[in-house]
Amino acid sequence: MPEPLFVLAPMDGMTHASFRTVCFEYGADGATTEMILSQALGRAKRRMSDKYLETLVRLPGEGNLAAQLIGCNSALMAASAERLTALHRFDALEINMGCPARTVVGSGNGAALLEKPELAVAIMAAVKQSTDLPVRLKLRMGWDAGHITAPELVRAAQELGFQAVTIHGRTREQLYAGPVDAAGIRAICREARIPVYANGGVTCAGDALAFLADTGAAGVSIGRAALKQPWIFDDIRRLRRGEEIPERGAEERIRLLVTLATRATLHRPEKVAVREMRKFSGWLLPGLTGAADVLERLNGIEALEDYRRLMEGYLEALARRNDTHIHPELLPEATLDTVKLRR
Ligand SMILES: Cc1cc2nc3c(=O)[nH]c(=O)nc-3n(C[C@H](O)[C@H](O)[C@H](O)COP(=O)(O)O)c2cc1C
Repeated sequence: MPEPLFVLAPMDGMTHASFRTVCFEYGADGATTEMILSQALGRAKRRMSDKYLETLVRLPGEGNLAAQLIGCNSALMAASAERLTALHRFDALEINMGCPARTVVGSGNGAALLEKPELAVAIMAAVKQSTDLPVRLKLRMGWDAGHITAPELVRAAQELGFQAVTIHGRTREQLYAGPVDAAGIRAICREARIPVYANGGVTCAGDALAFLADTGAAGVSIGRAALKQPWIFDDIRRLRRGEEIPERGAEERIRLLVTLATRATLHRPEKVAVREMRKFSGWLLPGLTGAADVLERLNGIEALEDYRRLMEGYLEALARRNDTHIHPELLPEATLDTVKLRR
């Protein structure tokens, strides 16, 4: 049996190149770009917006990286696959048949394809024929509990020679909450001859290992939990070796945030990169004494140097008081639903 893989799930607006490098440094076995809209990339004459061009950035230090395409027109998906392949930048292509956002499914993209298996298979075939890169599929169990189409789509992917599939064990109707169908994923894994990665609802390293055991999957794909614990990949490795999981104290968290901010300025305007750090700081600082004050002070900050100075000053102050540990009583409840979602 090959070793199971633990990969970072794609999250639009979050898992850009600099965040991925951090996860790779913590031992993620793979990652996927944010979704790239084939209606934008597939039209040769259309100028890509800066946001889309940024989605295509790959930084040094990134490991196995798939570029993810979303769309519902075979010709545009094929053209997009060709363009992505011609960049010689990615290790694989992935097709998104899981995004449940109303605007996305409203235009026939993402999870909408779960309801149209014929079109879904035509798109898979068109992409496969347009690239010599390995092709993967990411999907949900189906549209709703009465329409579970993942088993037939996984079969089709396998017949078309896809490299792997990732299943978010929920339906489109469930969006991002409610029970994850580990038994449904297990049934698909049992039948499939290509690797199946299980996704959905992991909150910590122990969860990831339990999910792996429950599904019999080839690996686990982790989304929201990695935003608040990018070290989850290292935690998993330690847990599998029977080692203790270390506390991630102020020094590790603050250094990580400064690294992330610095790297983000490599692929986005400084102001945008630094403003975005409010989000990541809001996920990583709670649990430390005085975090709320520091988060408040972040509001006026838009220069990398100011962010770095504030963070390093905060770390020095904590270290002076010998208070660099996490206080569990200051931690918010460990849920996945604090990530703002597009409905
Ligand atoms: C903010 C956000 C953005 C997402 N963007 C994408 C995306 O671009 N492509 C995709 O396939 N899935 C996307 N997803 C779904 C995740 O990859 C994952 O399937 C889902 O969050 C369940 O895994 P988790 O419980 O570990 O977060 C997104 C999820 C979130 C929360």
